[in-house]
Amino acid sequence: MSSLTGSALVPRIARVSGRLRVPGDKSISHRYAMLAAIAAGPSRLRGYAPGADCAATLACLEALGVSIARERADATRPEAIVIEGRGPRGLRAPSQPLDAANSGTSMRLFSGLLAAHPFRSVLIGDASLSRRPMRRVIDPLTRMGATIAAVDGRPPLTIDGASLHGIAHQPEVPSAQIKSAVLLAGLHAAGRTTVIEPAPTRDHTERALQAFGGSTIRHGSSVSVDGGQRLRAIDADIPGDISSAVFWLALAAGTPDSEIVIEGVGLNPTRAAVLEVFRRAGARIEMLQSNAEGEPIGSLALAYGSPRSFEIAPDEVPGVIDEIPGLAALAAMQPGISMTVRGAQELRVKESDRITMLAKGFTGLGVRVEEFPDGFTIHGGPPTGGEADAAGDHRLAMAFAIAGSRATGPVQITGADAVAVSYPGFFDELHRLARGQ
Ligand code: S3P
Repeated sequence: MSSLTGSALVPRIARVSGRLRVPGDKSISHRYAMLAAIAAGPSRLRGYAPGADCAATLACLEALGVSIARERADATRPEAIVIEGRGPRGLRAPSQPLDAANSGTSMRLFSGLLAAHPFRSVLIGDASLSRRPMRRVIDPLTRMGATIAAVDGRPPLTIDGASLHGIAHQPEVPSAQIKSAVLLAGLHAAGRTTVIEPAPTRDHTERALQAFGGSTIRHGSSVSVDGGQRLRAIDADIPGDISSAVFWLALAAGTPDSEIVIEGVGLNPTRAAVLEVFRRAGARIEMLQSNAEGEPIGSLALAYGSPRSFEIAPDEVPGVIDEIPGLAALAAMQPGISMTVRGAQELRVKESDRITMLAKGFTGLGVRVEEFPDGFTIHGGPPTGGEADAAGDHRLAMAFAIAGSRATGPVQITGADAVAVSYPGFFDELHRLARGQ
């Protein structure tokens, strides 16, 4: 990648085969770091996500008085971070604004955590995060007793924490970030706090609370937490991020004669719906879980099969929300294949407007895309080549690179350095696969 422009020329790939690992799961990393900070004692986390999003969470925690040490790998132990827990409501008032950078998860989950701390904190983000909707967390946290000021419902957020009381809250959109913000506030609130989910979302917060010795109560679509729980430190391995693995799975699924194995990846059922979509799209896929407790982890093997057009129905969208760009790359690569997704208007408020910017980027690579208010249809190419703008969005940069590696002409991605948000080594891995190593 050129360091001057942040743009990348995509290598061409004729066939993929091999085994690889992907960086640690972003969702789990944020949650483990935040819970470690309010647990008792030192937690040791291995496989913490290396990208800028999860680094922002650590930097915010340090600004909140949490001591964090990075242990390098040596002959006896793998690399780890060690977070000294400060106990319930033990965070200290920050002396400057807390910078969540590009990370919606950091901003929304910290809002929940800080709503219960008796001081003022200001949460800021980059240009993309500053455009994203925050009323979805401000409203329930205000009902619980916090005072939160925003700019037209968007960051920066000024949070005056308080003694909170439990509420029952039904979000308008299915969102693990809203659920988690409310549950984290509820952990420190008087009484019970309940979230009634309009559709199931990833359950990492519930599992993480259990791992740290706390608990949540699930009744059908509602999940509750009792206030006043004390958490204990953990020693944990964070699995690879299935949302990052999806790009390699898509590459193998769209490339004849290819097969790929991803090792040590998270297989949480609330994140694995994408595997069913790959099957529908004609790939052959096998999953092997290697643990029985906590966050499921294991390996995934995917082989090129018989590609078919596929659709993602509105009720499937929350389960594959982060995987849609990777699936779009799969469709874009293959002649005669189409992918349609509807009911996905939430994509418009992600790191970019992922409907418009995805359509623009793939169009720039010579792929035909129809855009709808709540989704798109992408008609497979292969891409003829050209230029695509990642629009500051890590998942779009990776989607364009994967489809671009199967293009008939050269492909250039502007703003490709956005991959550092979740997958700093993405282009190294792509070049390694292109060399057949
Ligand atoms: C996340 C939840 C999802 C997802 C995001 C990470 C999380 O967002 O898109 O990348 O870690 O809770 P929403 O909860 O807003 O759907």
